[in-house]
Amino acid sequence: MTTGSTDRKIDKLIHLMVMNATVVVPGPKIASEIGVTRATVWHYIEKLRALGVEIKGHPSRGYQLQRLPDILAPSLIKPELEGNPIGQRIFHYFKTDSTNSVALALATRGAEHGTVVVAEEQTAGRGRLGRTWYSEKKNGIYVSVILRPPLVPSAAPLLTLLAGLAAHQAIQASTGLAADIRWPNDVLVNSKKVCGILTEMNAELDRLHAVVVGIGINVNHREMPKELEATATSLRLVLGRPVSRAQLLVTLLKELEKHYQLLLREGGRAIVERWARASTFAEGKRVRVLTGTGEYQAVTAGLDPTGALHVRRKDGSEELLVAGEIVEVK
Ligand code: BTN
Repeated sequence: MTTGSTDRKIDKLIHLMVMNATVVVPGPKIASEIGVTRATVWHYIEKLRALGVEIKGHPSRGYQLQRLPDILAPSLIKPELEGNPIGQRIFHYFKTDSTNSVALALATRGAEHGTVVVAEEQTAGRGRLGRTWYSEKKNGIYVSVILRPPLVPSAAPLLTLLAGLAAHQAIQASTGLAADIRWPNDVLVNSKKVCGILTEMNAELDRLHAVVVGIGINVNHREMPKELEATATSLRLVLGRPVSRAQLLVTLLKELEKHYQLLLREGGRAIVERWARASTFAEGKRVRVLTGTGEYQAVTAGLDPTGALHVRRKDGSEELLVAGEIVEVK
């Protein structure tokens, strides 16, 4: 795991610059307000510029933010999350290997429910089924949330569905795009993946200690790597304009909180019902089912109350999928 989340002082600098947006802020003032030397201020400014934050330097006068940056800094995100238990503690990284790895380590060390780990770039983003997750710098959302639900381990698949539902709602609300959810929790736009979720946990037989829900969203990628182009896209590519990552992240964390509360209050059925309403994959979809040992064609036939998916084969036999992957057959 890469250590060293973003220095609180860089976070303070971002906040100071945003609060004084478009004004020239003298270097010595910045240095004294955030408690570092002027040389360190310059070093931090360079770091922010490398992330695309436009800061103009005025010799002997100071620094001026040219426009509001789309950066996932805690000082910009947290004020929007008042009253939302998820996001009261945020660890931000400019670069890390995997936010899920960081969050799992934090969870083992006792990090509290609702702790969020977010990165501008991942060097070893992990996907489901042992795959990697393409984590291009500053254009995606790479976030992991630590949940400590008072639930038994068999309820974990419901958290997986819940996270997909939250991401689906957040993407629709922030972009106006019609999105779909492919079981268990890929969010698709125009039949291509824009969001993937990796749920990992720390459990004993009778109790979930901590669940890490890792969410990756392709937000402002201008192009996808060749090998992903046919199956994945970004919100910017579909919309033809950039999307505010910070706003989308805030909406996502609020939706997660809302659906988590729904699960605790009304139980798994409420999540499953909402999921089935949001997804065209719940029933009657012709799919290829990919299992660890092979694949077969089937038609989806509804979710059971635990979040498992019924599929019916050509010969009429039914299977209940608890894990794995499905792909639409057109
Ligand atoms: C998938 O669809 O295969 C799941 C992708 C999950 C990617 C996210 S990005 C944030 C978090 N950290 C990781 O290493 N993976 C998840």
